[in-house]
Amino acid sequence: MHDEDGDRLSEAELLITVMLLIGAGQETTMAQLAKSVLLLSHHPDQWARLVAAPDLVPNAVEELLRVVALGHAGQPRMAREDVEFSGQTVEAGTTVFPVVNAANRDPAVFPDPDRFDVDRGEASRHLSFGRGVHFCLGAPLARMELQVALHALVTRMPGLRVAERDDELAWQPESLTRGLRRLLITW
Ligand code: HEM
Repeated sequence: MHDEDGDRLSEAELLITVMLLIGAGQETTMAQLAKSVLLLSHHPDQWARLVAAPDLVPNAVEELLRVVALGHAGQPRMAREDVEFSGQTVEAGTTVFPVVNAANRDPAVFPDPDRFDVDRGEASRHLSFGRGVHFCLGAPLARMELQVALHALVTRMPGLRVAERDDELAWQPESLTRGLRRLLITW
C-alpha cells in the first residue's frame, strides 16, 4: 500500500503522516468552523451582514481566522544565535513562544482590534497560519473549505442559530485546537 517507485514509508513515517493529515489537516479546520459559527451567533449583526452579502464570506473567513483563537500560543521556536528583538536580546538556545493571538490583535495593524468586523479591510494580515518556512502547508485548502462551508450556511440556512447555551457547550480544552466536541444548531 505505502510504497512509491519501490520507496517505502517506514511505519513511523506512515504514522506521522496520518497524524499530520488528521491533526493538522482535519481537526484544525473542523474546530475553526465550529468556533466561527459560535462567534457569529454572538454577533447577529455580522451574521445578518453575511446573509445579505454572501460575497463577503472570503473576507469574513479571514476575520474569523484573526479573532478565533485555535490554540493558546504559537509554536515554540529556539534561537540558534543571539537575536535582538524589540530592544531585548533573545540568547542562543532560548525557547520562545510567540503569542499569535496577541499579534492578531495588534492595534498597530488592526485598528480597534477587539472589534469583530466581517468588513475589516486588513483582516487577512493575521498570523493564524504561521509565517516563514513553516507557513501552513494546508492554508489554501483550509481557506477554501471554510469559505465553501460558511457560504453554504449563510445561503442555505440564513436562520441558523446555536441551540445550546454557552454554559452547555462541550469544549475540548485538552485538544491542541481547544475545539468543541459538538455544536448543536437549529435553523
Ligand atoms: C483553520 C485551519 C488551519 C490552521 C489555523 C492552521 C495553522 C497552522 C499553523 C499556525 C502552522 C505553522 C506551525 C509552525 O509555525 O510551526 C501550520 C503548519 C502546517 N499545517 Fe496548518 N492549519 C490549518 C489547516 C491545515 C490543513 C487543512 C492542512 C493540510 C491539509 C494543514 C497542514 C499543515 C502542515 C503540514 C503544516 C506544517 C508545515 C511546515 O512545518 O512546514 N493545515 N498550520
